[in-house]
Amino acid sequence: MLYAMIPFETFDRDSISNYEAKVLVAQNLAATAESGQVIGAGSGSTSFLAIHAIADRVKANELEDMTLIPTSIEVQMTIASLGLRVGDLAADSPAWLFDGADEVDPDGSLIKGRGGALFREKVLFRATTDRRVIIDDSKRVDRIGSKFAIPVEVVPLALPVVLPELEKLGPADLEIRKATGKDGPVITELGNLIVDCRFDGVAPDLEVKIKQITGVIESGLFQGYAPTLVEAN
Ligand code: A5P
Repeated sequence: MLYAMIPFETFDRDSISNYEAKVLVAQNLAATAESGQVIGAGSGSTSFLAIHAIADRVKANELEDMTLIPTSIEVQMTIASLGLRVGDLAADSPAWLFDGADEVDPDGSLIKGRGGALFREKVLFRATTDRRVIIDDSKRVDRIGSKFAIPVEVVPLALPVVLPELEKLGPADLEIRKATGKDGPVITELGNLIVDCRFDGVAPDLEVKIKQITGVIESGLFQGYAPTLVEAN
């Protein structure tokens, strides 16, 4: 497989915050995998470590015949480079999914999308009922939105329509996410822009209200999905 020939790893140990805690969570998550399962694989460093932890169990002959459905090109490359089968929602039905989060509040609402993969992450959430969110202590907040902005993926030509509609929802700040490896804005895998929206207070229906705006593809706000939280022991 091509990705096995040309490994590409975004994360190294030194670049991962809370590395020790994330490794423990990843191992706890991997311990729940069973041979032959199709599993949805989220994005971010904790998910990256979880994919590695599952691959480690395969190498140790504790698991076999594992299929992981990726939520980004980078995740797809990681899965393939570790010799696991890359699944596809068109052909495979996930038994469960794992994914990280930027924030989790006491009701289980999430902010995701720091890595820009929020659309595929939410599609996978919709396609799966058993959702396991892998977190360390740094992700817990009393109020959703207190640390992170809510990312909103927007079709570029619709930006003049979307920005005034987002403003009506009362954000404290809106910012088009800038790229670091290129000039100009971040362009998502679907060719869209990301508008990071900081809110001082998040209403229970904010995810739905954002989604109703013409030109919005999806947001990184997850309300009412009741995920299972997996943490370090
Ligand atoms: C990716 O787009 C995000 O939703 C990640 O799941 C989230 O940012 C958590 O990332 P870490 O596991 O790297 O903290």
